[in-house]
Amino acid sequence: MVKVTFIGHSCFALDNGSEKILIDPFITGNPVVKAGGAPVKADFILVTHGHGDHLGDAISLAKENKATIIANYELCTYCQSQGVEKVHPMHIGGGNKFSFGSVKLTIAHHGSTLGDKLQYGGNPVGFIIRTGGKIIYHAGDTGLFLDMKLIGELDKIDLALLPIGGNFTMDIPDAVKAVEFLRPKRAIPMHYNTFDLIACDPKDFTGGIKPFGAEGIVLGFGETYELN
Ligand code: NI
Ligand code: MN
Repeated sequence: MVKVTFIGHSCFALDNGSEKILIDPFITGNPVVKAGGAPVKADFILVTHGHGDHLGDAISLAKENKATIIANYELCTYCQSQGVEKVHPMHIGGGNKFSFGSVKLTIAHHGSTLGDKLQYGGNPVGFIIRTGGKIIYHAGDTGLFLDMKLIGELDKIDLALLPIGGNFTMDIPDAVKAVEFLRPKRAIPMHYNTFDLIACDPKDFTGGIKPFGAEGIVLGFGETYELN
């Protein structure tokens, strides 16, 4: 069992009962994060790319928790240069076992710059995360891509976390197509309604994916879903 908490935007907290994993911890400056409602504990922090709405508070949280940042090589090197002690660099197509399970990096079609100088952050990624006996796919920021069929073929996804807000990522029709390609058991939408530019009604997504046998779950900001 894994407890999946939607913090807001693309930030999720996973809890397998013994370890806490934070993904894309955009908390400071995130208009939808409830005051005091964001997690401050993490053993591992996964970051899909360097944009501020994903790298977010990863560096300060990693230092406070002595947590390990898992990301691509370029982003890990940057975090180290900012004083993070524990990083685990990986890259697209590569997987590794961790105490909580495993992580494999997937492609994501997007950009990735970081810091004030807009440094190169390597290629953006998505994650296939195994923990608590479940397989979770966090797509990061991405447009729709046909290789999602392959991702769904290689791993029987229990839960897909997919951006639906458009403009920077897939919109709802494309995210519905992503579900058709991935064939996950369940899907939770993300990267919408944080700002006006990415406003949409997530019910259009959960309704749209029904024909593909996937259960759509809309989580409120700070809400937790028990993945059994
Ligand atoms: Ni981005
Ligand atoms: Mn983003």
